[in-house]
Amino acid sequence: MSARILLLALFLCGLNASRDESSVNQELSNIFNELWRLDLNRMTPGIDYNISVQNKAGFVTQGSTVVRDQAPQPLFSSVDEDKMKRTTTFFLLMKLLDNYERSASVSEQYTPEEITEISLFLDAVLETQVMKRAHKYLVSKGKSSSDLTTFKNQLNWIWFHLYNRQRDTGPDSCGFEHVFVGETRTGSEIAGFHNWVQFYLQEKNTHLDYKGFKAGHQDSPDSDDHVLNLQFSWHGAVKPVGSAFIGTSPEFEMAVFTIVFLMNTERSTKVVVDIDQCQLELLVVRHGNSIGTAFPKLLSSNSRHVRQQSH
Ligand SMILES: *[C@@H]1O[C@H](CO)[C@@H](O)[C@H](O)[C@H]1NC(C)=O
Repeated sequence: MSARILLLALFLCGLNASRDESSVNQELSNIFNELWRLDLNRMTPGIDYNISVQNKAGFVTQGSTVVRDQAPQPLFSSVDEDKMKRTTTFFLLMKLLDNYERSASVSEQYTPEEITEISLFLDAVLETQVMKRAHKYLVSKGKSSSDLTTFKNQLNWIWFHLYNRQRDTGPDSCGFEHVFVGETRTGSEIAGFHNWVQFYLQEKNTHLDYKGFKAGHQDSPDSDDHVLNLQFSWHGAVKPVGSAFIGTSPEFEMAVFTIVFLMNTERSTKVVVDIDQCQLELLVVRHGNSIGTAFPKLLSSNSRHVRQQSH
C-alpha cells in the first residue's frame, strides 16, 4: 500500500470513529458532570419527591389515542412543593409554565407580564453556579460573549424567541414551550414535553395520565433514576415514548441543552454522554438560531442497559 493510500485509509477511519454515534463524548461528559455536581437545586429522590414507576407500558403507534394503562397510580406519589416554591428557579419556572397555548398551531404572543417573567427567570438561572459554569465554558469555546447581558439575550433567543412551527399564521412556538411545556399536534399527538415539573403539575391537575415506563427486555427503572423513558396521555393525546430528566433543576436542563446546541451547527445533533451513573443520548434539533427540540434518552443506568426506541 502506498503511503498516500495508507494516509487516506487512516483519515477515513478517523472520520468513521468521529461519526460513531454510540461513542461517548468525553469532553461534554466532563463539563456535564461538573454541572451535575454544581446542581445544588436538584431535588433528591426519596426525600424531596417520590415516584412510582409501576409497570412497563405497551406499544402504541404515534397518533393513536387508544392505550392500555399499565400504571394505575400516578408517577409522582409525592413532591415537596414547598421546597420547590422556596427554590427561586423552580418557583419562576412554575410561573412560566402556564403562559403557553397548548396547540402548536395557535399563535403565541407575549404579554408585558410574560416578558417580565421570562426576564426574571433568566436572571435567576444566570445567578446559579450551574449556569455560571456553563457560561464560562461557552466563553472559553468562543460560543458566547463574556458580557452577561449579551449572554442573557443569547439564552433568551435560543429558548424564548417565538417562531412558526406549524403554519404561516404567525409564531406559534418556541424552544421553551416545546421542551418544558409540551404542545399538541392535530389534537392527538403530543410534541415535546420533556420537563418533570410540568409532568408533575399536569398529573396533579389530572390533565395527564402516566401509562408506564418504557424499557428493554427484563429491565426496569429505579425510583431514584434521574432520567426516565415513559408513556403518558395529556388532554386525550398520547406520547407513545417520552423521556425526561427527573429531579434536576431547570438551570441544569437549560445549561446542558444550550451547550449541545451552541457546540454544533447541524440541524439535528445527537451526543452520547456519561452523567453521574447514567449513559444518556442527548438530542437537540435547531430551528434557526433557536431550539426546536431537546431531550435526553436513557441508554443505561448503573450496569443496567436500556434498549428501546425513543423520540
Ligand atoms: C418520600 O418517601 C420517604 C420514605 O417513605 C419519606 O421519608 C419522604 O418524606 C417522602 N417525600 C415526600 C416529599 O413526601
